[in-house]
Amino acid sequence: MKTPQLEIFFTATLIKWHLQFNRREMPWKGEKDPYKIWLSEIILQQTRVEQGLQYYNRFIKNYPDVFALAAASDNEVFKLWEGLGYYNRCKNLLFTARFVASKLAGGFPQTFEALLDLKGVGTYTASAIASFAYDLPYAVVDGNVNRVLARYFGIATAIDSNNGKQTFSALATRLLNPKQPALYNQAIMDFGATVCKPKLPLCEDCHLQERCVAYSEGRVNELPVKEKKIAKIHRWFYYILAEKDECFLVKKRTEKDIWQNLHEFLLIEANHHLNTQEVLDSETLKELCGVHKLLSVSRVYKQQLTHQTIHAIFIHIRMKQSKLPAAVHLIPKDELKKLAFPRLINSFIEESYGLKALPG
Ligand code: ADE
Ligand code: SF4
Repeated sequence: MKTPQLEIFFTATLIKWHLQFNRREMPWKGEKDPYKIWLSEIILQQTRVEQGLQYYNRFIKNYPDVFALAAASDNEVFKLWEGLGYYNRCKNLLFTARFVASKLAGGFPQTFEALLDLKGVGTYTASAIASFAYDLPYAVVDGNVNRVLARYFGIATAIDSNNGKQTFSALATRLLNPKQPALYNQAIMDFGATVCKPKLPLCEDCHLQERCVAYSEGRVNELPVKEKKIAKIHRWFYYILAEKDECFLVKKRTEKDIWQNLHEFLLIEANHHLNTQEVLDSETLKELCGVHKLLSVSRVYKQQLTHQTIHAIFIHIRMKQSKLPAAVHLIPKDELKKLAFPRLINSFIEESYGLKALPG
């Protein structure tokens, strides 16, 4: 089959599938309010829809418009974002909300280029907002879209190579139906997420199957191709629960690293496993607070991030010294739940103290 026909069939079939068979329901579907679209797209960057949904609903309930979000405190918004990961997104979210509220009188930019200038908004998000809110002809290209296109057209160019990025972006733009950009973008996103899935795609029920190159050539599992294998690193976090009068030492993470702006206990980090005695004997710990008595040692808590695995062990001690290190706070045990912690620390707190995070 000639390329133009493959392309015409693709777009027409996808839209037909979307209108007749796509049963995926989401609160922002058909939404035209750029604030809600922007919020949903920021939440969904690097997040599964199933998880993002609850967060979206909570955010809209707490902050129905951009002024409400702009007026909220950093801590409150970080607390609501807790568990979603990639905390830089939350920082940019707040920055952009305040920018739009104070500098643009609450009105979101209405062109692709001006949307792209917003902090935290890249090509993908700008295309989503431009098409969904304003019906502008910008095709979204993300992992879902790349996968569908690589398979249907049988393209083995690496999706993360410069050549691949250009190829897929140009193809996506050609495929977009400029009369129905919102419909087309929603269709391909949902199709990639529910039919042409990364693992076990539903080829037998797929409306594109009869002309899908990967399917006819038996290459579905080989596509898409990725160039770079990401090196995964392991980090060992030894959290010292330094206790004094039912209070714990807690610190805010400020470094340019994972979990920026979230809280944690005193941290001793290593690139390999340490035994408890090594941690207790470490100079760092002596400088931080000194150990009066070892109370308990937790199991290993593990959290898988995109490029790294975090292994955390919580070591509960009674501390020796009463002089607090700089930027460290003594927090009463039952007030821990008011602070935003990484998921792994929350799991530990919930398991150990039965303290549940406050519902948003
Ligand atoms: N992922 C990111 N944005 C989405 C949307 N609008 N619909 C479905 N999945 C998405
Ligand atoms: Fe994807 Fe399979 Fe459909 Fe091809 S036939 S588009 S690989 S689900």
